[in-house]
Amino acid sequence: MAKFLFVTDLDNTLVGDDNALIELYDRLQKHREEYGTKIVYATGRSPILYQELKKEKNLLDPDALILAVGTEIYTNGSHTPDSAWSEELSPGWNRNLVVAITTHFSELVPQPDSEQRPFKVSFFLEQTKAVKIIPQLESDLQKSGLNVKLIYSSGIDLDIVPRSSDKGQAVQFLRQKWKFVAEKTVVCGDSGNDIALFAVGVERGVIVGNARPELLQWHNENPADYHYLAKDFCAGGILEGLKHFGFL
Ligand code: GLC
Ligand code: MG
Repeated sequence: MAKFLFVTDLDNTLVGDDNALIELYDRLQKHREEYGTKIVYATGRSPILYQELKKEKNLLDPDALILAVGTEIYTNGSHTPDSAWSEELSPGWNRNLVVAITTHFSELVPQPDSEQRPFKVSFFLEQTKAVKIIPQLESDLQKSGLNVKLIYSSGIDLDIVPRSSDKGQAVQFLRQKWKFVAEKTVVCGDSGNDIALFAVGVERGVIVGNARPELLQWHNENPADYHYLAKDFCAGGILEGLKHFGFL
């Protein structure tokens, strides 16, 4: 057994099956103590919503946190985002201009204030409207010279973030910092904002059995033997995937 870098989304990936989570945590915690395996959560949640879930589900303290869809990285329990990462996201990002352009789209319903972050502007957008609105919005943002990326998840959440940012690129940042090769890194997810985790490189990937259609569609269109589609749901699917790749 050797140490590995374990990266997981929270909602409907790590969290969703309490019994399976207890078993997974038991295995992971022992692995962390014995071999120096690192645990990273990569979520769309803001610090506030992350703390709520952490309390509610009694989540283990991770070695690093990727919050707000990859736009904020926190290491060693720090409450201040990693400044080297923030500096990489700043060039070409203009939050006020992004907000100004989005006001022309009445279909976009702003998410709560807690989810509006320095490098993330978020809305609710119904799936039926998304097909038409997203390309229009993307083109308007581009015409204004903005270097941004639109990430749509779970048929409702739309995040606008800097082009250089997503969960996958945040993982690369940590992987290089901690010197883990891609083959010793495993990423786990269930929805649209997790696609970047799987698409960024050749990290081992576990798609939980309850994955959303947008991730399943991406997986079907981009099959790879280093991605595993689990049968079990949530933490049960993660356990299945970790065993499949020989990490546990
Ligand atoms: C989380 C965040 C939300 C975001 C969504 C998808 O639910 O709270 O702001 O839009 O993840 O990334
Ligand atoms: Mg999720």
